[in-house]
Amino acid sequence: MPPLLEVNNLTTRFYTQDGVVHAVNGISYELNEGETLGIVGESGCGKSVSMLSIMRLIPQPPGKIVAGEAIFNGRDLLKMSDEEIRSVRGAQIAMIFQDPMTSFNPVLTIGRQISEALETHLGMSSEQAKERTIELLRMVNIPEAPDRINDYPHQFSGGMRQRAMIAMALSCSPQILIADEPTTALDVTIQAQVLDLVRRLRDKLGMAVIWITHDLGIVAGLAEKVIVMYAGFIVERASVHDLYADPRHPYTKGLLGSLPRVDDTQHRRLVSIEGLPPDLLELPDQCPFAPRCVYNYERCWKENPPLEFVEPGHEIACWVDVRTGKPRYD
Ligand SMILES: Nc1ncnc2c1ncn2[C@@H]1O[C@H](COP(=O)(O)OP(=O)(O)OP(=O)(O)O)[C@@H](O)[C@H]1O
Ligand SMILES: [Mg+2]
Repeated sequence: MPPLLEVNNLTTRFYTQDGVVHAVNGISYELNEGETLGIVGESGCGKSVSMLSIMRLIPQPPGKIVAGEAIFNGRDLLKMSDEEIRSVRGAQIAMIFQDPMTSFNPVLTIGRQISEALETHLGMSSEQAKERTIELLRMVNIPEAPDRINDYPHQFSGGMRQRAMIAMALSCSPQILIADEPTTALDVTIQAQVLDLVRRLRDKLGMAVIWITHDLGIVAGLAEKVIVMYAGFIVERASVHDLYADPRHPYTKGLLGSLPRVDDTQHRRLVSIEGLPPDLLELPDQCPFAPRCVYNYERCWKENPPLEFVEPGHEIACWVDVRTGKPRYD
């Protein structure tokens, strides 16, 4: 069976006053039906831009998708008309964001906004839509849903808004849910509730999930496959098990090395590798991670390593074998 989503060579740039920002540099991946993919990496490595690109939500200008394709159910999302992509967005592919306030219109009730999506995308009558909205809010554990549909977004607590956003995202039973750091603004208990909720709904509805986060702990408990991004490139890709048991890219090893203890719930997002990610104004000839890497071979400074298999199902973009510390090639 072909994958549900197949992204090939996606390349997105921003043409700014300071120069060209190479935000996403030829990334490729597949997502199968019902599968959960985690995307991790430090701030600014292109996680959000890569998702916004396939949803066609990049501001153009200054942004531009300069190459690539994103085949969803056999059709290229990047070539669809505005009208076609709008009907995919929210209905077949839904996205939830870090700040639910940006997903809701502050002057319309929560109930109205969810019902409207159902009426527009699924052609429900207003009665049917209202009933379904109450069901959806119950599903995400909003208490007294029949009354709360008349609340405005600001009348919900942060956690309730997040859950209501998930209800809205799921209203049309999407085949893919894209979650861009939806739990970072929440306290740890509510984070856990939201994660649990998405996990349960995913299993019940059979949808595929793409979960973007800084938090390798979250990915471990949620995803089957993981992509690690650095400077707009994919630098490692593996099953969750292999990535944690046997990370092969020095960057991933660094991220995992800085993973705090499980009982250290206060500091779970700590990522501390010395140095900063490169600015993206120049596409590097060298390995983009070389300036921060513990290894230091000539080739690292000369050529950007391609993503290559080191084991079945496990790819890295690195010239070095981290198990021996020696170059992978002579
Ligand atoms: N509208 C824009 N104009 C110019 N540059 C942009 C724009 N949006 C994003 N970028 C740049 O694209 C790069 C990738 O940004 P992106 O938001 O994808 O990072 P991210 O991995 O999602 O980071 P974070 O973890 O902080 O959310 C960054 O260098 C960012 O500054
Ligand atoms: Mg982001």
